[in-house]
Amino acid sequence: MNNTLRFNPSFDGLAPSSTLYINETVNRLWRNGEQAFHMGFGESRFDVHPRLQTALAEHANKKSYLPARGLPELMGSVASYYSKKLNVPFEPSQVMIGPGSKSLIYGLQMVLNADLFLPTPSWVSYAPQATLLGKTYKYIPSKIESNYQLDISELDKLVKASENPCKVLLINSPNNPTGEVLTADFLKQLADYCRENDIWVLSDEIYFEVCHGEVPHTSISTFYPEGTIVLGGLSKHFSIGGWRIGVALMPNTADGMAILKKMVVFASETWSGVSAPIQYAAIDAYQQHEDVERYVADCRAIHGIRTRFIRDSLRAMGVTCTSGQGAFYVMPNFNRWEVELRERGVSTSAELARYLLDNYRIATLPGSDFGIPEAMLSLRLSTSYLDMETDNAPSEIFRLYRDGIGDKSLMSEKYHPNTHAALAAYRAFVDDLSGSTKI
Ligand SMILES: Cc1ncc(COP(=O)(O)O)c(C=O)c1O
Repeated sequence: MNNTLRFNPSFDGLAPSSTLYINETVNRLWRNGEQAFHMGFGESRFDVHPRLQTALAEHANKKSYLPARGLPELMGSVASYYSKKLNVPFEPSQVMIGPGSKSLIYGLQMVLNADLFLPTPSWVSYAPQATLLGKTYKYIPSKIESNYQLDISELDKLVKASENPCKVLLINSPNNPTGEVLTADFLKQLADYCRENDIWVLSDEIYFEVCHGEVPHTSISTFYPEGTIVLGGLSKHFSIGGWRIGVALMPNTADGMAILKKMVVFASETWSGVSAPIQYAAIDAYQQHEDVERYVADCRAIHGIRTRFIRDSLRAMGVTCTSGQGAFYVMPNFNRWEVELRERGVSTSAELARYLLDNYRIATLPGSDFGIPEAMLSLRLSTSYLDMETDNAPSEIFRLYRDGIGDKSLMSEKYHPNTHAALAAYRAFVDDLSGSTKI
C-alpha cells in the first residue's frame, strides 16, 4: 500500500483494555492445558435468570431498528426502577439506553467539553477513553492508609488549577477496584462541594445491586440531582455483560435534556440503537418481579461471601487489603515486601502482576492500570471467577446457597477447590517473600 497507512495519534500508547487482555491470556493458557487462577476479570458468572431467557426467546423476532435513545417501554421501566431503588424521582424522559454503560460513559466524555477528574484508583477504561478523545484528565491523589478514600481537598486543588469552565468528576460506588461503597454522609459533602463549584458528576453505579450489606448504597443524585448523571446497567447483578445493555439517567433540567440530545446524536451516528430483542427482554429485569429480586439478592450474597473469604484469607497471611463492602474485588498491597520483591526484579505493580502470573499462575491486574502510582505494589483481584470457570459451576454454587448450606461449608475446599488452590499459591508467594526459599 505504498506506506500510506496512518493512525490517529490518539491511539498512541494505548493497548486493548487490560481486563480483556488478561482474560484472553488466561484463556490461552487454559487452551494449552496449563493451570491459571483467574482473578483478573470482573465478570459475574451466574446463569441468566429464566425469566430473562424466556423473554429473550419470545422477542427473537423483533427485527426493526429501535429509536436511538432506546425502547420507550424499557425507558419507562428503567425510570420507575431507579426512582424506587435510589429514592430519587426519575421520568422516562431522563433515560437513555446504550450498548453497555461503557459506551455511554464514552459518549458522555465525547459530548462534554470538560476536564475530567478521576479518583485514584479508578476503573481501567475511564482514562483511556479520555485519551482516545484527546481530553484532559487528572487523577485525584489518595492514600492507601485511608482505604483510597476520595479526598475533597485534593480534588479542590485540581479543580482550582483547571481553566476549563466545564468540569466533570467521575465517581464509582461500589467501586471497582476497591469494592468501597461511599457513605451517604460523604456523598452529601461531595455533593455540596460539587454544587458550590459547578462540577458535573458522572456517577457510575453499575454495582449498586451488589452491596454486601455493611454500607447501604446511596446515589449522589439524592443530594445533587441537578448535576448528576447516573450510569448503570444489567451486566453485573444479572451476569449478562455479554448482552451489552446499559443506562444513563440525566438530570431533569434544561441542561440535562441538552446533554441527552447530544447523546442521541452520538448514538444515532454510531450504534443506532441497542439490539431490539435485548431491549425487549431487559424490560423484565427492571420490573422488580419477586423471583428476579430474590435471584439478585442471592447472587449479591454469594459475591459477598466469596469476596470476604478471599480478603480475610489474604489478611491472615499479613497482606494489606482494601476493606470493600460491595462489588467483587479486593485490592491487596505488597509494599511491605518491597525490598524482597525488588530482589526478584519486581519494582512496579505491572511487574508484580506478571511475576505472579509467570511463577504462581495467578492472573490479576496491576494497580497502575487503575491510576495508582506504579511503585505502589497493589493489585486488583476479581473474586467472581474462581470456581465459576465453567458454565455449570455457578449454578451448583447458587443451588448450594439456596439450599442453605451456610457460608463456611460453601467456602470449603470441596465446593471452592480453585479458590483454595489460588490462596495456597498466595501463601507460597508470601512465604517465599517472608524469608523462606527463593524461586
Ligand atoms: C466500574 C465499571 N463501570 C462500567 C463498566 C462497564 O460495564 P458495561 O459496559 O457492561 O455496562 C464496568 C465493567 O467492568 C465497570 O467495572
